[in-house]
Amino acid sequence: MPDTIDWEAAINTRRSVRSYEPRPVEAKTMSDLREFAQSGMQIPFEHSVKVRFFKAPPGSRLYALKMAPPDNVAFMAKTDVKSISAAGFVGEMVILYATALGLATCWYGHYSMAELERLLPHLGEAAAQPQPKWGYGSGVVPGERAICISPVGYWEKGGIRLADRLTGAFISYKRKPVGELLEGGVKEEDLPREIAYAIDLARKAPSAANSQHWRFTVSPDFKTVTIAMPAGYRHLKWEHPDVDIGICACHFWLGLGLQNVGCRVSPGEEEGRAVWRFEL
Ligand SMILES: Cc1cc2nc3c(=O)[nH]c(=O)nc-3n(C[C@H](O)[C@H](O)[C@H](O)COP(=O)(O)O)c2cc1C
Repeated sequence: MPDTIDWEAAINTRRSVRSYEPRPVEAKTMSDLREFAQSGMQIPFEHSVKVRFFKAPPGSRLYALKMAPPDNVAFMAKTDVKSISAAGFVGEMVILYATALGLATCWYGHYSMAELERLLPHLGEAAAQPQPKWGYGSGVVPGERAICISPVGYWEKGGIRLADRLTGAFISYKRKPVGELLEGGVKEEDLPREIAYAIDLARKAPSAANSQHWRFTVSPDFKTVTIAMPAGYRHLKWEHPDVDIGICACHFWLGLGLQNVGCRVSPGEEEGRAVWRFEL
């Protein structure tokens, strides 16, 4: 495995890539990624998220209109709010590490459940019951599910989205300014440098349909930061917005770590949504 990873560069260069070359990931790169996911990565809280790599044959329609590349990864967890949010955190560590290794990825919450079960049997007894067509469904179900999956491969550059090609930019990369994301009275200009830096990396996190529904609450003494979506938030098309909050929490934690700021990380549940508390 590479000794050091430039996490800031990984955050700034990661993009959702939806078109892939039909070739497998090179063996050494794949082995580095597997090693990181299975034993190398440090996660600052207890969790039971599993990272499972799997192969897709040519022509597999795991991802709606797009062809799957040969290598893919699934983030498996229980389906309660805390577990799916932890899947976001852990999954994003793997996604960013893959980015640092030069690989392309894309979080998919809406994958073909039937195709995933064929390629990566994981439903057990539930396989005999009717399953949703796209993704694992809504609400809490017994056992573990693939909370999200991602292709892992090489960007097929001709496949860049038409809208992005027209503007010459990745429009999906647009992010809300920090000022719009702060709750609880502390103003952007008052933030200590370390917290401002970590929030800046956190707001660059990917979210389903780029909805960026995370909000940051910084205590007046700057000792506690919480990340959560507004209570009662619902997304029209994405059933599990707490996954995205875990992804955002991962970026924030990396941002503090890059500045050697130690913290205690506690993922919790309040008012039916995930709330990530960082005590600095
Ligand atoms: C939890 C999650 C689920 C997502 N699900 C899908 C999906 O089902 N299909 C898809 O095309 N993109 C999906 N995306 C990708 C988002 O559309 C993308 O992250 C967002 O537009 C921001 O663009 P960027 O990742 O290039 O920064 C998902 C992203 C996240 C974080």
